[in-house]
Amino acid sequence: MRRLCDPADARRMLNPGPVAIVTTSWRGIANAAPIAWCAPLSMQPPMVGIVVHPNRHTADMIRFSDGFAINIPGPSLVKQTAFLGSLSGLNNNKLESSGLTLFNPLAVDAPLIEGCLAWIECQLQDVVRMGDHSLFVGNVVKVQADDEAYAQQWLLTDREHSPLTFIGGTRYAVIGDPIDTTIEVDVSGALVLETVEERERREEDEGQAREQERLEGQEGLAQKKRAEEQDHRTVF
Ligand SMILES: Cc1cc2nc3c(=O)[nH]c(=O)nc-3n(C[C@H](O)[C@H](O)[C@H](O)COP(=O)(O)O)c2cc1C
Repeated sequence: MRRLCDPADARRMLNPGPVAIVTTSWRGIANAAPIAWCAPLSMQPPMVGIVVHPNRHTADMIRFSDGFAINIPGPSLVKQTAFLGSLSGLNNNKLESSGLTLFNPLAVDAPLIEGCLAWIECQLQDVVRMGDHSLFVGNVVKVQADDEAYAQQWLLTDREHSPLTFIGGTRYAVIGDPIDTTIEVDVSGALVLETVEERERREEDEGQAREQERLEGQEGLAQKKRAEEQDHRTVF
C-alpha cells in the first residue's frame, strides 16, 4: 500500500550513502562530527559536497581552516560515529574522549581517523546556504583507501570492510549485497526483464533447490526411521 509521507521524510529516504566522519583542525585543535549528507558534485575537477547545519562547530571549523577531511568508517566504528554526533566539539575534546587514533593528513590540516576505510581531503571551495543547512563544497586534493575495502569501487567482499550508512535515529546499516547488472532490450527497444542466460541460471538454481529439498526430505524420513528402530531396541 502506498502511503503519503511527511516532506521531511525525503531526507531519510535519501540517506543510505556512506556516512562520513568529517574532521577539521584549526589553531592546533581538532574536531570531528558524523555527516550523513554527502554527495559527489564534480568529476573534473573532483569536487564533493557536505551539508552541515550552521550551528555545528564543524561549520565554523571548516570556514576558519578552509578545509576538511571525510573519513569513511566501517561497522567497527559505529559507536564512535554515534558518539561524535551526540555532542558539540565547541567545549569538548570529542576526539580524545572517543578513543579514536588519528594519523597525519597529506594535504589539509584536518587529521585522519585510523581504522576507517577511505579518506578524502578537501580544500574549501564554496559555501552555499540551502534552507536551514549549508552546502560546503570541497575541492578534493588527496584520496586514500584501504585496499581490502576499495579498488576503483567499494569491493563489499566482507562486512568489516564495507562502509557504514546511516538510516536514521539510532539505526545504521552496512552497505552490501552488490548486484551486478546487465541490461538488454528487445527489437522494439523495450527492456528485457530476464535475459536468456538469467532465465537459464534461475531455472538451474530452482532445480538445485528442489533437489536439495527432496534429499533433505528423504534424509529426514531415514533419520525418523532409525530413531524409531532405536526406541524399540531400548531396554528399560
Ligand atoms: C549518523 C549521524 C549523521 C549526521 N549527519 C549530519 C549531517 O549530514 N549534517 C549535519 O549538519 N549534522 C549531522 N549530524 C549531527 C552532527 O553530527 C551533530 O550535531 C554533532 O554533534 C555536531 O558536532 P560539532 O558541533 O562538533 O560539529 C549527524 C549526526 C549523526 C549521529
